Amino acid sequence: MLHIVEHPCVKHELAVLRNRDTDMRMFRDAMNRISFFLLAEALKTLSVKIAPIQTPLASTHGYQLADGVMFVPVLRAGLGFLSTAQILVPDATVGFIGIKRNEETAEPMTYYKNIPPVQDDTTVFILDPMLATGGSLCEAISIVKKAGAKKCVLVTLLAAPEGVTFIERAHPDAIIYTAACDEKLTSSYYIYPGLGDAGDRTFGTL
Ligand code: PRP
Ligand code: URA
Repeated sequence: MLHIVEHPCVKHELAVLRNRDTDMRMFRDAMNRISFFLLAEALKTLSVKIAPIQTPLASTHGYQLADGVMFVPVLRAGLGFLSTAQILVPDATVGFIGIKRNEETAEPMTYYKNIPPVQDDTTVFILDPMLATGGSLCEAISIVKKAGAKKCVLVTLLAAPEGVTFIERAHPDAIIYTAACDEKLTSSYYIYPGLGDAGDRTFGTL
């Protein structure tokens, strides 16, 4: 259920994001570019159905997405993936979940949720670049499942092995896409070697 997205551009952009000399603007731009490749891969989980179409020359058939799509960025860092997601699937609905980790314990604290109606056929793509302890994404999955989601796909950028195991145990049906799975978590629950704090680097709150 863990998919590492292998692509030369993903590797290149990830190195830009990891580099401590990358400033806020460059960081946000790289996040926009890399999210295209991660989302394109994650969206392969969608099904299509045949639909009749009329070209200027003939009647034929084409395809359209069979599933409903919802994107749910986890505030704040998940916002870095949202504009690309909406370009790729413009008809998708968008929900929001605000979660902040406790700085000492890394326990997630949910401070906001606003999820549009979820249909049986809706695939919910939860967007959050960082999967560290897994606490925040585990909580986000529980929230969207409670809202009715039957299929959840996590789109992340970096994962720690501890967080992947945590999600696998709590939500074995969740599918995870990421650019890389790093070595470990530090004693202060940061992904190592990682890229630092994704929210702070995206929005300049350093
Ligand atoms: C970060 C990140 C994830 C979470 C991952 O958010 O964007 O949501 O930590 O950590 P976890 O897997 O251990 O839960 P943070 O709590 O720093 O919130 P912020 O982006 O609003 O600062
Ligand atoms: N959140 C981040 O932004 N970075 C980490 O390494 C862990 C949690």
